[in-house]
Amino acid sequence: MRFLKISVTAVALVFAATSLQAKEIVIKFSHVVAENTPKGKMANKFKELVEKRLPGKVKVQVFPNSQLYGDNKVLEAILLGDVQLAAPSLSKFGKYTKKLQVFDLPFLFKDIHAVGRFQGGPVGQKLLMSMESKGLTGLGYLHNGLKQLSASRALKVPSDANGLKFRIQSSDVLVAQFEAVKALPLKKPFSEVFTLLQTKAIDGQENTWSNIYSKKFFEVQDYVTESNHGLIDYLIVTSTEFWKGLPADIRGVVSKSMNEAVAHGNQVALDKATSDRKRIADSGRSKILQLSAGDRAKWVEAMKPVWKKFEGQIGKDIIDAAVKSNMMN
Ligand code: LMR
Repeated sequence: MRFLKISVTAVALVFAATSLQAKEIVIKFSHVVAENTPKGKMANKFKELVEKRLPGKVKVQVFPNSQLYGDNKVLEAILLGDVQLAAPSLSKFGKYTKKLQVFDLPFLFKDIHAVGRFQGGPVGQKLLMSMESKGLTGLGYLHNGLKQLSASRALKVPSDANGLKFRIQSSDVLVAQFEAVKALPLKKPFSEVFTLLQTKAIDGQENTWSNIYSKKFFEVQDYVTESNHGLIDYLIVTSTEFWKGLPADIRGVVSKSMNEAVAHGNQVALDKATSDRKRIADSGRSKILQLSAGDRAKWVEAMKPVWKKFEGQIGKDIIDAAVKSNMMN
């Protein structure tokens, strides 16, 4: 009888240990863009690497195209534990920190390499932790690229934008940027942009070549001005509680896989800045306008006062460090 009791207990213990071991960690990664974009490809690469390295231990579920959450809503979902990972554009964190607004300042970075230097330097790395007190941890940056202006009208000089309605991401810097050229900025989710343009509820928007191409904005806009006036890059973000709660060995593998997936996504970003631009040009659906040096200087002159307006919120030291990244090679 006693023997039977002991063996029943032993079996129960083995069973409990096995079921504990078998409990798979699920990482839901929600994003708003198409799969054939730098972020879409990074997310899929991350899933592939993690599931190969941690079979049966970690499962990654990727939800593209705002299928699960759109834009800013995903940050609330992360804090509630409904989603574990996201990579919103750096323009979408205004509710949690004002410091990341630096990335929205018009005509701040001369190219994506300068952006990379700033993000990888001490100031950029410190910004990853700027939302710790709100429960959000930044795991790293991912590139998309520089923004272009698309519209139903040819935008060559700032006055061409007067009175036009532009969709913007949820950033006050972007409000000020369009108000500086007497346009009307409207904060709208990414998922609504195509319909707003198609129905002519708005006249234009600003985005990267890969977003303009993959979401077909170029099919419903007559012109794209190659302005390179701003940036859409991403912050890969998780909940501090979730991140710290991961077993150390698993966190290490997830982190390594994330870094490799980001390197892959950054390469996609570089390639698409050229190839998706070419696809749009070749389509003949919208005309790409180049700015002369003189006309570009007019946009800079009109928009640059925005920097001063946000200096107090962002911090002069942060803006100075970003400017400095343009001077290095
Ligand atoms: C946008 O809303 O235009 C972008 O943030 C979309 C994205 O994630 O690239």
